[in-house]
Amino acid sequence: MAREFTSVGVVGLGTMGAGIVEVFARNGIDVVAVEISDAALDRGQAILTGSTDRAVARGKLAEADRDALLARITFAVGLDALHSVDLVIEAVPEHLDLKQRIFAELDRVCKPEAILATNTSSLSVTEISVATARPNQVVGIHFFNPAPVMKLVEVVRTVVTSADVVADVEALCERLGKVDVTISDRAGFIANALLFGYLNHAVDMFESRYATREDIDAAMKLGCGLPMGPLALMDLIGLDTAYEILDTMYRRGGRDRRHAPVPLLKQMVTAGLLGRKSGRGFYTYERPGSPKVVPDEQTPTTTEPALTDTAVSKVGIVGSGTMATGIIEVFAKAGYEVVSVTRGAEQSAKVFEAVQTSLNKGVVRGRLSEADRDAALGRINWSATLDHLADVDLVVEAVVEELSVKKALFASLDEICKPGVVLATTTSSLPVIEVAMATQRPADVVGLHFFNPAPAMPLVEIVRTIRTSAETIATAQAVSATLGKTGVVCGDRSGFIVNALLFPYLNDAVRMLEASYSTTDDIDHAMKLGCGYPMGPFELLDVVGLDVALAIQRELYLELREPGFAPAPLLEHLVTAGYLGRKTGRGFRDHTRR
Ligand SMILES: NC(=O)c1ccc[n+]([C@@H]2O[C@H](COP(=O)([O-])OP(=O)(O)OC[C@H]3O[C@@H](n4cnc5c(N)ncnc54)[C@H](O)[C@@H]3O)[C@@H](O)[C@H]2O)c1
Repeated sequence: MAREFTSVGVVGLGTMGAGIVEVFARNGIDVVAVEISDAALDRGQAILTGSTDRAVARGKLAEADRDALLARITFAVGLDALHSVDLVIEAVPEHLDLKQRIFAELDRVCKPEAILATNTSSLSVTEISVATARPNQVVGIHFFNPAPVMKLVEVVRTVVTSADVVADVEALCERLGKVDVTISDRAGFIANALLFGYLNHAVDMFESRYATREDIDAAMKLGCGLPMGPLALMDLIGLDTAYEILDTMYRRGGRDRRHAPVPLLKQMVTAGLLGRKSGRGFYTYERPGSPKVVPDEQTPTTTEPALTDTAVSKVGIVGSGTMATGIIEVFAKAGYEVVSVTRGAEQSAKVFEAVQTSLNKGVVRGRLSEADRDAALGRINWSATLDHLADVDLVVEAVVEELSVKKALFASLDEICKPGVVLATTTSSLPVIEVAMATQRPADVVGLHFFNPAPAMPLVEIVRTIRTSAETIATAQAVSATLGKTGVVCGDRSGFIVNALLFPYLNDAVRMLEASYSTTDDIDHAMKLGCGYPMGPFELLDVVGLDVALAIQRELYLELREPGFAPAPLLEHLVTAGYLGRKTGRGFRDHTRR
């Protein structure tokens, strides 16, 4: 007979505990919510009323339902109040000794048949369970932040957890409207094991001034469609909690350097900058607990970058591939006079047709008038010789991704173009400084990394080499803005911001699959439902192409020499086998049968 859960207990009403209480009470289950002191209880209660009041204000919860929800909760100080509940979920700070003490106490207080669950993100559920005399009734129930919103629950089964306990907890998750993935006890489980290396890397980029907090966050939101940037997410998680999770993952997860907390994190925690909950973390908030970011001394001034005397009106675009075609369309639509240079009339005709087809689609969808389409096409001049770039103000190079080809091209541009012109490369993996040094004017050379498809993707990475001048960067920013794109500035390292943060995460997902820890479906689910990613890692890899992912991952590994960046053998084997993703019909999934 499956257990009936009519009342549950929640220990600790912080960021997670308060949300977990709300989840149960919303679903008609009585909750006993306990804290360590009256003051902490008041804080927890305030989080709950704040969250339910917001739900009422947004029309997501009726007032009567909120009142009924709150009436189901009993608040108390101390664990004794939990004597008759059917299940307890512990959500106290991420310290093993604290959790073990609480479990030993719960074991004494709770009725014998009660299930004891921990919401730990990284500690060993097994080690917590052995603090009790009923380890077979101990399980991990890992909710995601914010608990009332995120659909995923990771159910963590240890080697001693009874099968019926797991089954009952899975049924409970379903009743709560959650999707569960059941996994064994490994540091970080699925989602955090894939998430925290990425978050730590983003903090490292910030600490080393590789890019600003706003640019790092904008890059991941706009480049990958994530609901929040990594630094804003750290603030939501809580920097103290994030620090503990990283520290545990480092120690439990094979001492992967990528999990060693970046020193800045420890400093911020020590200084009381814990994120949203303390009102200040990477960003500053209106008040403690508020989600509203307010300007501080790091906030960039909002004045539009001025189009100074380097004003750009005529742009040369070199290349005839997917990226060049998209970039020609973007500039022509934004009102620039464009000179397209390809290797011959045949290529130019092909590009013209592609641009025309894409603009026609815009007309059919009502996004562009026929007159604007014709005007955009009329602004493009077609050429097969670089000599026509003698009077342009900006050149964007988007030829094949080979250093020797790009260097030769930049040497020619250096001879042909007038002084003061900005020379940009769209390379996604080569060092921009290499092409800059092929010219006599490296201060004028910059990376302009567009994303595919260029007309649709709102992000441009503006890559500053150690020789790029401030004026060149300002021009690149101004041009990005007039194209309607968000330009983020970063240093000249392999992968810039987006690929450097995205691909190691994808590679880690492949390693997790390779280790048989979980399945493609569960890993994809975990990242979509637990972290709000628009696609799971395997869905994305199949779209991007496994060969492309492998090439980028190799570049990152070769440049940064980070052992954790070594391409997963499974990725290499799939590429060798010709399983490249959607484009060949098969990658991690078989697309021919769908
Ligand atoms: N923050 C996240 O995004 C997140 C997501 C999933 C899981 N978790 C996990 O949830 C757990 C809680 O994390 P958090 O971020 O909510 O922490 P938090 O610091 O926001 O809250 C912890 C709460 O526990 C209370 N507490 C401390 N000792 C207690 C005791 N002896 N008895 C009762 N209450 C006590 C504190 O007063 C505080 O209110 C951790 O194990 C964490 O790893 C966190």
